[in-house]
This record gives sequence, C-alpha cells and structure tokens, in this order.
Amino acid sequence: MSNSMPLVQALRGHLSLGRISFHTPGHKGLPSPLDGLGDLKRLDLTELPDTDSLYEADGPIAQAMELAAGFFHAKRTLLSSGGCTLCIQAMLYLAAPTGGKVIFGRTLHRSAVNAMALLDITPVWVLPRPDAGPGLPGRIHPDDVEDALLRHPDAKAVYVTSPDYYGTRSDIASLAAVCRRRGVLLLVDNAHGAHFSLLTPDIHPLHLGADACADSAHKTLPVLTGGAWLQLGQRMPAEGALDAMALFGSTSPSYPIMASLDLCRSWMQEKGNAAFSQLQGQVEEVKKRAEGLGIPSPKGPVDPVRLAFNTLAVGVDGRRAAEHLRLYGIEPEMSDKGWVVLLPSPFHEKRHLQRLMDALTALPHGTEQSEAYFAPTLPEAVERPRAAVLGPSQWVDVEQCVGRVAAQAACPCPPGVPLVMPGEKIDQRVQLELIHSGIRRLKVVK
Ligand SMILES: Cc1ncc(COP(=O)(O)O)c(C=O)c1O
Repeated sequence: MSNSMPLVQALRGHLSLGRISFHTPGHKGLPSPLDGLGDLKRLDLTELPDTDSLYEADGPIAQAMELAAGFFHAKRTLLSSGGCTLCIQAMLYLAAPTGGKVIFGRTLHRSAVNAMALLDITPVWVLPRPDAGPGLPGRIHPDDVEDALLRHPDAKAVYVTSPDYYGTRSDIASLAAVCRRRGVLLLVDNAHGAHFSLLTPDIHPLHLGADACADSAHKTLPVLTGGAWLQLGQRMPAEGALDAMALFGSTSPSYPIMASLDLCRSWMQEKGNAAFSQLQGQVEEVKKRAEGLGIPSPKGPVDPVRLAFNTLAVGVDGRRAAEHLRLYGIEPEMSDKGWVVLLPSPFHEKRHLQRLMDALTALPHGTEQSEAYFAPTLPEAVERPRAAVLGPSQWVDVEQCVGRVAAQAACPCPPGVPLVMPGEKIDQRVQLELIHSGIRRLKVVK
C-alpha cells in the first residue's frame, strides 16, 4: 500500500508556485497580526480548568466573547471554530427552533439550505432584482420582502445574504425597517462582510439594523480558517445561544481558531480602521484602472475592498482571465463565465496590487460573447426541504429529471441564483437551464 501524503504534497506543491493569494483566508499566509499567536501547535489545547469550555463558557472564552460584543456593539457575540456555517445554523435555530416559515432571499449558501432541512423550515422565496450587472444575482429589494411578509404574516424571520460573493450589498437599513414594521427578525448571512465595521462609513449589517449576523471572519480578516462570529442584536433571543451552537457544532472546538478570533478583535480595535481605510484607497485605484481598461465592477452599493471584474465586457471568459492572472503569479478567489473575484487585504504589499494591475493591463481582449442569462423563476414547491433532503433520494441524468422533485439545490454561476431548491418540482424550463449550465446529474426524491 502506498504511504504517500497526497494532501500534504498538494499543499506544498501549491506553495512552491509562489503565487500571491487573492483568496481566503484573510491573512493570505503573509505577515499579519496572526503571527502574534506564535506556535499554533502549543496553543492547540483543550478544555482545562484555566482554558474554559465554549459551550459552558464562564472564564476566558466568556471574556473574549464579551470583549467582542463590546467592540461590535452586539447584545452577544459568539465565537465559532466551525465557520460561518455553524453561526448560520445557530442563527436560524434561535429564530425558528421548531421550524415554520422564514422569508429567504433566493441567493443563499448551502449551509442555510441544510439548516432549513435540519430545522424543518418552510422557505418563502424572494428573488433578487438583477440590478448589479450582467451575470450577477443582484439585490434583495425591501419592497419585495414587504410584499412577502404581507402574504405570509406568520413568517418568523427574514434571511438575506449580503454582501454576496461579488461584493454586492442589499439595502440592509431599509430591509431592517421593513422587518421592524412587520414585527419579524432580520437575519443576515454576512459571511463576506466580517470586516464591514472597519470601513468608512461603517456598513456592518448589525449597525444598519439587522437582528443577527453570521460573520465568516476567516474570509476577510487575519483569522484561521473556520473562525467566525455570530452577532446577536438587541431584539434577538440570546438565551440558549451557546446551546444552539452546541446542537450543531463539534464538542472539540479549536482553541487556536478561537484564539485567532480573540487576537483579531484586539487588532481590529487598535489598528483595524487605519489598515482598512488605507486598503479602501488602494482598491479604489485598482478599480478605476480596470474601468479605464474597459473592465467594469458591479454597479451600486458594494463591499469597497472587494474586487470583482466583468472581464467578459472585454470579450474574455472570467475563467480564462483567471488563468491569465495565474501566469502573473496571482491566485484569484473565484471565476465564472463573466467575472473574476479577488480579495485584497491590508496585509498585501503595494507590489502585490501593482502585479495585479500589470496583469490586468496585459489582459488581451477577446471575442467571447455574453450569453443571454436566464431570468430566475420559482418552480412549484411540492415538499418541504426537510423531507426532500433527508428522505430517500437517487441520482438521475438531467434528461430524465422533468416531473421529479429535487433533493438538492442546483445553483450554477452565473447568475448564482438557484434554478431549483430541494422540494421543488423540476419543469422543462429548469431542465433546459440545467443542461445549458453543464449540470449532467441531479439528486431527486425517490
Ligand atoms: C455566502 C456564504 N455564506 C456562508 C458561507 C459559509 O462560511 P464558512 O465557510 O465560514 O462556514 C460561505 C462560504 O463560502 C458563503 O460564501
């Protein structure tokens, strides 16, 4: 039997390429405050009399969470070493512990779809309006949410993802006003916006009126992968919040990850604003340069320190543009037909952003055409997600899927809006779009 270490080799192999990381995690493997943790192996401890226990926190973990809550002006801030996924599960549990209706923006991460199934939540969908640019999902509009709440006054909460992968932000202040007026909670998947309180102006959803936010700190801040905060606002039920996390999380949360969250909060308090305001200026410059080259960014309110480039505007498929960037030693976060997404950080040096600008300037324009993007619709829901996801299922070829009920979400990018969700019936239109998106097989209810 081979005794190779394929993963170790792959990681070392990737590092040997010497690429500049413009992807998660936020520390980029560069010198950053995270270095202050020292030897991670030595911090990899467990629940000891003096190290506290996350789910029964009353010592240093409790203090770290109180300091974080003070910094974020939250009623409570919880540490997660199980990523934003764990925060999303706990957030939905706190709002709808025994299921029921929740209004969801249709652009959402699969952790929310899974939580829906686990908690037996019945989703009421609100489609985004395609207002951010070609091939982008767009924003959840407050009027559409209000309309859904009028039709479903028994909904327990509204759940939106903002910002999305491309940095597009929905109008959280207006969404929060609608939710307050209608007496429901506003929950925000703020996975990509954990740094938002450091920007000018402060655009953190909690500070714009959201009742709870899941912040994937490791994506944009100097935190180890898996580190996230669950932020609870004043109206959010906070009793049992740790129990809610314990319901879904490991009994062995990682101390190095939790310590990196503590360290990062301290750094944010001392130096975060200055670091991010400098980055904001630098990113603005790069965007301007790209715009001058004919490569636009998303329109309307966005994360000002994220780069999303519509390279298809100059005839280059985003995936080809990503290959071009790699030739320049740059590893982007993600690419699809129309767009390349990059995550700059305060720990990048000037020369890193300069390399990115050089690579963009050298991008040869092509002739690839934008296709007509489909306008997302809502297929008929015939089962609750719980039954569809957890019940018996089978894989079928897409050619055979019409009339079947999806047991999984299918979400091609572009435009990042799911074609079908678990429990929804697949019609001919959905089938055509699945084929068009290159999806060959789908899990359906047996
Ligand atoms: C929008 C969104 N929400 C939630 C998550 C889950 O975050 P984590 O990987 O920290 O569990 C992701 C991860 O990519 C995401 O993109």
